Amino acid sequence: MLSHLLHLAGIESIILECRSRQYIEDRVRAGVLEQGTVDLMIETGVGERLQREGLRHDGVWFSFGGRRRRIHLSELTGGRAITVYAQQEVVKDLVQARLDAGGQIVFDVEDLTVRDLDSTRPKIRYRKDGDAHELVCDFIAGCDGFHGICRPTVPDGVITAYERVYPFAWLGILAEAAPTSEELIYTYNQRGFALFSMRSPQVTRLYLQCAPDEDLAEWPDDRVWEELCARMRTEDGWAPAVGPVFQKGVTGMRSFVIEPMQFGRLFLAGDAAHIVPPTGAKGLNLAISDVLTLTRGLEAFYKSGRQDLLDQYSATCLRRIWKVQRFSWWMTSMLHLFPGDDGFDHRRQLAELDYFTSSRAGMSSLAENYVGLPLD
Ligand code: PHB
Repeated sequence: MLSHLLHLAGIESIILECRSRQYIEDRVRAGVLEQGTVDLMIETGVGERLQREGLRHDGVWFSFGGRRRRIHLSELTGGRAITVYAQQEVVKDLVQARLDAGGQIVFDVEDLTVRDLDSTRPKIRYRKDGDAHELVCDFIAGCDGFHGICRPTVPDGVITAYERVYPFAWLGILAEAAPTSEELIYTYNQRGFALFSMRSPQVTRLYLQCAPDEDLAEWPDDRVWEELCARMRTEDGWAPAVGPVFQKGVTGMRSFVIEPMQFGRLFLAGDAAHIVPPTGAKGLNLAISDVLTLTRGLEAFYKSGRQDLLDQYSATCLRRIWKVQRFSWWMTSMLHLFPGDDGFDHRRQLAELDYFTSSRAGMSSLAENYVGLPLD
């Protein structure tokens, strides 16, 4: 997305990707786009398939005590909504748009290192098909994820990390089963959290709270379905439709933020700078807002020689990031079973769910955050 936005601003970039095109286009990730992400994709010409295939949801459900309550997102937010469109579909559309516009993406690079970050000519060294290359840049954007090489390259003492690790994870499946609800359902249950989502009119996406070190071998499909149904079935008899499982995985849960997100000419964006637990469905959307802010800074630099927006990059991003962190942490703490709870948390969680699904003020706050806070 950054490369695409820079291209539209007349700024040249090269993407170095250590995976193959196929790997990044097939990798299953989350699938909820905020209104601002959808608008940005449409406005910048990469929203055609999204508009055709994406599933717009005007509401979201919360299930607890055997009953469901709906938050009418668009009614509470002046017409904003979320759109279900898998992250790897966004990746496919962006890769295609860059290649169609003559953009350079080098896949399968190896041994990538960055250097001279505090000079005006930072450099990237890498290997491709065994040959060594050096790229001399004006700027480097570290969009290389939580495990990437950019963040660890920043000298000690520059960056402070703030972190929360949760005592649970999500076991997620994709199943060939027609979704039995048109909208997402977040379920709080004594057996643990569960989430009903979808990818298409034929594919259901489901998650259940599990242990952080859960062994998938202990979760044959039958057991997954049994547990999902036990947690999600409501008093009126609603339950997810069961079908063949074609993907299964465990997602860890953490909240993580670094400050600042910049060192010299290196700008960190997305998971390289922050991780949110998936409960708020914010990971991709937060990365998009970072690169939009970075694009504005680079645009001002190249068009009018202004450095101020780049200097403010980190502070501008972090203001939004901490609000999104708060929301993701809050959704997580409202909906999961916490080991060792003596009953206080359980009652607090039920009261919280009751309040945020019945008070107009509570529902508005939830909806405003869920559809996405304004992009700067
Ligand atoms: C998903 O559909 O993968 C999904 C939906 C909502 C979340 C997280 C993941 O909060």
